[in-house]
Amino acid sequence: MEEIKVFCPATIANVSCGFDVLGVALDNVGDTMVVRKTQEKGIRITKLEGQDLPMETLQNVAGVAGLALLEKSDYTGGFEIEIYKKIKAGSGIGSSAASSTGAVWAMNELLDRPFTTLELVKFSMEGERLASGVAHADNVAPALFGGFTLVRSYDPLDIIPIHTPSDLHATVIHPQIEVKTSDSRKILKTNITLADGIKQWGNVGGLIAGLFTEDYDLIGRSLEDHIVEPVRSILIPGFNQVKSEALKAGALGCGISGSGPSIFAFSKGIDTANKVATAMKEVYKNIGIDYDVHVSKINSEGIKTIQ
Ligand code: HSE
Repeated sequence: MEEIKVFCPATIANVSCGFDVLGVALDNVGDTMVVRKTQEKGIRITKLEGQDLPMETLQNVAGVAGLALLEKSDYTGGFEIEIYKKIKAGSGIGSSAASSTGAVWAMNELLDRPFTTLELVKFSMEGERLASGVAHADNVAPALFGGFTLVRSYDPLDIIPIHTPSDLHATVIHPQIEVKTSDSRKILKTNITLADGIKQWGNVGGLIAGLFTEDYDLIGRSLEDHIVEPVRSILIPGFNQVKSEALKAGALGCGISGSGPSIFAFSKGIDTANKVATAMKEVYKNIGIDYDVHVSKINSEGIKTIQ
């Protein structure tokens, strides 16, 4: 195979209680990429449509992640990459992760899969390092594995795929402002109290247990963030109102998607997820802020080949 076209899913990182460790992939929101082998060594981004992002290999997350793979590979040729972005940069649903994982996943397929998914996560994390200054894995892991993932440890890297309840749906609203992950990380406190830690890891355990046992109520009760949301939510206009309207409309829980400004909610069933979308939209209509909204099933397979 000389060329491959792939769908790279959007992802919700943190999932409220799991800052930098939990993430989940969406099913019908994502980018498309075409990757082809070339005789010329190295990586070239030959097309980038949909967003105004750098095309120089070393300035582009797909380029940097791809180079991390090439460095560990015996392959003597190179790759050309075309990126068709649907995910807006700075929206909080894993735009950079979609590009970096799409590049390395496609390259691995074209080379007949010399690398494991865990190794692909490591290469993709170099793209995240370029985008946000920190090589976090909570967007790239679910994009590559599909479903929910837990980064149990960064050193050594240990990713645990988590069972996805079949009727779980996500609603994501993106108020049209841009928040750079690097900026929204700078405002975080670097110390937490023991009391907050206790609440937070209780919820992480509760969420994981709820996902494995398909206990929707427990999932909802565990979607709480006592550490990051109180700080970051001030960057998101209407956050508290969106959250309370989403919960009133029947959402199990609601929080900031990744580093924001997108806000996500989980619901049991598509009908409730659609009602939640309507309730969230109403808030921004009233405030007068434009938005994009997505309602999606959880993507259980991760990046995939498309025609
Ligand atoms: N865990 C990262 C953060 C995700 O919240 O900064 C960024 O998408």
